[in-house]
Amino acid sequence: MKIILLGPPGAGKGTQAKDLSQRLNLPHISTGDILRQNVSLSTELGKKAKDFMDRGLLVPDELITEMLKERLQQPDVQEEGFILDGYPRNLNQAQTLDNILKKKNTEIDIVFYLDTSESVIIQRLSGRLVCSKCGANFHIKNMPPKVDMICDYCQGELYQRTDDREETIKKRLQVYYKEVSSLIKYYERQNKLQRICADEEREIVLSRIIQMVKNHCLTTKT
Ligand code: AP5
Repeated sequence: MKIILLGPPGAGKGTQAKDLSQRLNLPHISTGDILRQNVSLSTELGKKAKDFMDRGLLVPDELITEMLKERLQQPDVQEEGFILDGYPRNLNQAQTLDNILKKKNTEIDIVFYLDTSESVIIQRLSGRLVCSKCGANFHIKNMPPKVDMICDYCQGELYQRTDDREETIKKRLQVYYKEVSSLIKYYERQNKLQRICADEEREIVLSRIIQMVKNHCLTTKT
């Protein structure tokens, strides 16, 4: 199965993708996580991407697409499919993804649009904490770790993302709003878009997504 999670920064794409990945046994592909890994390892890609990320801008499509193509070649994705989080970010990326999948005689099954209000986005991003070892997400208030600044799962140290500063959050939202309507229209035309209110609690959002995945499986079987 091939699922896309669309939504603004802070909608909970990463949080939901990690939960869904476990529940549905599907690989989670986060372009943001792959980029951050490259930045921390100072790879060529990381060096090129860092400045764009720190300024809240999109990393150029050609860099991202190469990176994605490589991940899509890997056996887990070839066998199981994926939950894609952070890609596509614009119409060009959506069309590129469709072309890549077409060559493999396959296509996206469902696109979930995690609709989130701006006040919730700001509250979530300004309190987000991420594990430096396993990438798990926490929140100072909404989902605090059991021990201050320590990951519940791997005991790694938690940190605040450099792009979660107020000015960068504003820029990321501007970039997001500029691109999102054409993406929504693109997937609506393909009859693949499902809207979910993502202001709700994590478990409620997750159960709605899972219900829609089940409904999709039932309708495509008949
Ligand atoms: P990326 O890492 O993809 O960031 P983003 O899209 O801005 O999304 P976030 O990771 O900020 O938010 P999220 O929706 O995953 O929310 P989360 O689950 O963490 O990209 C970063 C940068 O990389 C981009 O700015 C760009 O430069 C570059 N990039 C990446 N992909 C690219 C591409 N395709 N093309 C070009 N450039 C690209 O949740 C947020 C917080 O809220 C957490 O603290 C969490 O605990 C909490 N939370 C989540 N859900 C709930 C809930 N239901 N209730 C309460 N709290 C919740």
